[in-house]
Amino acid sequence: MGTRACFSTSLYHEPLQKAGLDRFNTELADECRKIRDYDVAGRKWSEKNYPGGYTSYATLNRLHEFSSTFAALERKLTRHVRRFAAELDLDLRGREVFMTDFWVNIMPEHSAHSLHLHPLSFVSGTYYVATPKGCPGLKFEDPRLSKFMAAPPKLPKARPANQTHLTYPAKAGWVLLFESWLRHEVAANRSKAERISVSFNYNWR
Ligand code: NI
Repeated sequence: MGTRACFSTSLYHEPLQKAGLDRFNTELADECRKIRDYDVAGRKWSEKNYPGGYTSYATLNRLHEFSSTFAALERKLTRHVRRFAAELDLDLRGREVFMTDFWVNIMPEHSAHSLHLHPLSFVSGTYYVATPKGCPGLKFEDPRLSKFMAAPPKLPKARPANQTHLTYPAKAGWVLLFESWLRHEVAANRSKAERISVSFNYNWR
């Protein structure tokens, strides 16, 4: 039988849609900045918990219920999440996937987002709105890292499935989905321009 990969971790990376992304992202970036201007409590929260940047994670975190732009994006993202759930062979028992949280992240130069996971959901992801040249991608950590004990390190040219860390580039107009338990982080933004993304969690009912 030879060697085969088992217990795999899947990442989903696809463009949101086939056309019309530039205009959509310009409008969405504008709305994200307006949300930041409006969200005094969120800016205050971010000062402590998202140094150098802004996130509406703790304040305006159900944007699909308040904004028609975000509601339209939610419908598109749900189609991607359904596809990802099918790829994972999940048995949803006739239930539906649905979005629970939807928030904005704006990272100016030097801001970073340390290693974390997304509790209370099963699929999470990010849609990239503005990704200036040189801005950081999303770095994922092998969920088995704490179990490797005496294992030798991986070769620098190890196949993606065998690497302990993988970084996906942040690409405006692209959707990146992962299972919510998978830890990830964003390195410091070295671009002078703002990196804008919207993140979301999904559950099933
Ligand atoms: Ni995250």
